[in-house]
Amino acid sequence: MQTDASGLAPEAPIGIFDSGLGGLTVAEAVRRRMPSEALIYLGDTARIPYGTRSPQTVLSYARSCARLLAGHGIKLLVVACNTVSAVALDMLAVELDVPVLGVIGPGARAGVARSRSKRVGVIATAGTVYSGAYERQIQGFDSRVESLVRSAPLLVPLVEEGWLEGEVPRLAVRRYLEPLVSRGIDTLVLGCTHYPLLRAVIEAELALLSAEPVAVVDSAEATAVELEAELGARQMAAPAGRAGSLRLLVTDRPRHFADVAARFLGEQVAELDVEQVDL
Ligand code: DGL
Repeated sequence: MQTDASGLAPEAPIGIFDSGLGGLTVAEAVRRRMPSEALIYLGDTARIPYGTRSPQTVLSYARSCARLLAGHGIKLLVVACNTVSAVALDMLAVELDVPVLGVIGPGARAGVARSRSKRVGVIATAGTVYSGAYERQIQGFDSRVESLVRSAPLLVPLVEEGWLEGEVPRLAVRRYLEPLVSRGIDTLVLGCTHYPLLRAVIEAELALLSAEPVAVVDSAEATAVELEAELGARQMAAPAGRAGSLRLLVTDRPRHFADVAARFLGEQVAELDVEQVDL
């Protein structure tokens, strides 16, 4: 069996974690792109939200999630949480024996590539905004691009509650987007795992607020593209033609997780069996 330097084989699973269920958008993009991969997803539903917590707390939560997944013999770790990617990615890369991929680099790169006006808006959690990670990444990809980064804290609880349409999310989204649109962004990066679930509302409000079209970039797809390239470069992609799988682990409320997740995974998550684990 072929293995890499750490002794792991292409058959090994990929670990993905987020503070809750929003990171399933990344898992879903990975499944669509690489259907042969075995995925183990961990949602830390007992401790969500991460985005309002101090960097020290996020570091400690991230470490415990990563350790649990490492214990499952993963060949690579995808940090689907923007807040963790913003503050803990370097630490995880040093501490783990497997490659670690975050979502901020792929999202920022996709936003820069999309923008013509060179004004890219980003909405994210307070923790991500405070870290300055998006500004740094965007500047790193193209120093001519101005980034306008704003926190949108009410959107995470709306998504966790499955409140994805109607007046309440519409008003919240409008309030957060108005200041970005008024400053002339032509691209909006959804800098939080949960926001793609509100994409329909976000696009509708952008169309009402802006005379010019504003492109919406979701880092899930961009992350899946980078992941595929990374596995290819390391010759660690799962054997083609193998049936992939998705195993779901949560730290609290597995039933609620299954109910909300089913809506956007497009299948009955109950049948996928959500397991509760302790960190
Ligand atoms: N997963 C977080 C992120 O992408 C959002 C939810 C939270 O605050 O924990 O930043």
